[in-house]
Amino acid sequence: MRARFAISLASAVLALGVFAVIVRAAPAADAIDPAADARAFRDYFVKRFPQVKQEDFVNGPYSMNEDMRRQWQEKEEFPPYEFALEAGKEMFSKPFKNGKSYADCFENGGIGIRQNYPYFDAKEGEVITLELALNRCREANGEAPLSYVKDDMASLTAYMAFTSRGKPFDIKIPNDPRALAAYENGKRYFYTRRGQLNFSCASCHVQSPGERLRAETLAPALGILNAMPIYRSEWAGMGTISRRFVTCNSQTRAVPEEPQSDDYRDLEYFLSYVSNGLPVAGPGARP
Ligand code: HEC
Repeated sequence: MRARFAISLASAVLALGVFAVIVRAAPAADAIDPAADARAFRDYFVKRFPQVKQEDFVNGPYSMNEDMRRQWQEKEEFPPYEFALEAGKEMFSKPFKNGKSYADCFENGGIGIRQNYPYFDAKEGEVITLELALNRCREANGEAPLSYVKDDMASLTAYMAFTSRGKPFDIKIPNDPRALAAYENGKRYFYTRRGQLNFSCASCHVQSPGERLRAETLAPALGILNAMPIYRSEWAGMGTISRRFVTCNSQTRAVPEEPQSDDYRDLEYFLSYVSNGLPVAGPGARP
């Protein structure tokens, strides 16, 4: 018991501010308590950025910087993701070769459900993201899966997010040890340092939101997936959650995982859960 405490204390000291807060807030160092994590996570950002309205964190870099926000608001009059929305809507309503369509695979015909993803599937015993569900839908209907990082997947998720805009994230963690383990694995992934630069996701998005990295302003981790998928000028196109995870891993010269790997899905589960209550804002546009 004592050794275990020493280990968790050491990792708390090594880890970043918010992780230390989470460990301290939990009743026992090794108990998995997602609700307590989510409260500590939110409190950290709210205290650090008291001028930012909670629902505004979903606007990423714009929530951190007034000048950028003004430029963005001008841009939103002709949003650069508009083409993706239209393409996504068309793809979504076009039947597969077998006559079925995406709508047949989802609750409520796929409309207004973005805020429920990812979810833990008790039958499969794994986290199902929206991107994964879309490809499973295609495969179940005899269609080839789409690339997780390219435009078609981004267009589809853009359209689905749009039909959910403003709805609060509502990620559930059922009382199932496998779901808790997936959550915990995602959390561990988020706080683990990796790559030649030895950065964790938290190094940039918890410790340094609002700071500049080259030409970019770092987004806060609270609400960081709510505006996905996003248009980025640098990409000259849209990017999915998968694309962003791969890009961020590469930035620290870590070897990225395959899109929709177990770790990435668990990571999405963790990040989405701790952003519960914040509205869907996708698709988003970034400089
Ligand atoms: C070296 C710093 C760094 C690390 C480490 C890092 N990122 Fe990023 N991340 C960025 C930059 C730069 C951007 C683009 C500017 C922005 O939006 O934050 C970004 C953007 C994002 C976005 C889009 C946010 C938005 O609103 O546009 C997500 C999501 C994201 N990162 C997730 C992650 C995850 C998950 C990890 C860990 C696997 C990670 N990042 C690690 C630097 C980093």
